[in-house]
Amino acid sequence: MPELIPVLSKEDIEKSVAGIAKQISADYRHRKPILVGVLKGAFVFLSDLIRQLTIPVKIDFIRTASYGDETSSSGTVCLTKGLEIDIHGEDVLVVEDIVDSGVTLRWILDYLSGFGPASVRICALVDKRERRQIDVHVDYVCHVVQQGFLVGYGLDCAEDFRHLPAVYHLKK
Ligand code: IMP
Ligand code: MG
Repeated sequence: MPELIPVLSKEDIEKSVAGIAKQISADYRHRKPILVGVLKGAFVFLSDLIRQLTIPVKIDFIRTASYGDETSSSGTVCLTKGLEIDIHGEDVLVVEDIVDSGVTLRWILDYLSGFGPASVRICALVDKRERRQIDVHVDYVCHVVQQGFLVGYGLDCAEDFRHLPAVYHLKK
């Protein structure tokens, strides 16, 4: 049986999301950014984050896949759902669940830059540095976690555990 070891409590997450929302609201005051959530993992984080913002935003989603059912990246990113809103000349804030190797984020930044946005920043629930291969700058980080495969609060392992309100290390 896989073991779930607590890493971030519901309260830890609530606190960090509120803090990041405050920072984003201040940095984007008088602007209306387009938040681009990266499906599926970021859907819980995005929905909590937007309800703490004090600025108007628009929401869009993209979906990338690189993991399959394994707990390590395949190294190849594919886009299974693209943007629906025109981001040309707009301020874009990418909302990611986890930045791990950085491969997905680098790919997403290249994809978005092709549409000519005014600016692109990144917000991630977890910055996991263990397997970083590409040095991508994450502008807003809720939590830094050194290692381990994480599940819960939107994060999955083979589509399981997304519904858990806290984040756990999945020990197989
Ligand atoms: P990267 O390309 O290695 O940076 O990671 C790409 C994606 O893999 C992330 O956006 C997550 O959706 C997923 N991922 C990375 N680490 C974990 C984890 O610990 N748990 C669940 N998903 C993860
Ligand atoms: Mg992701």
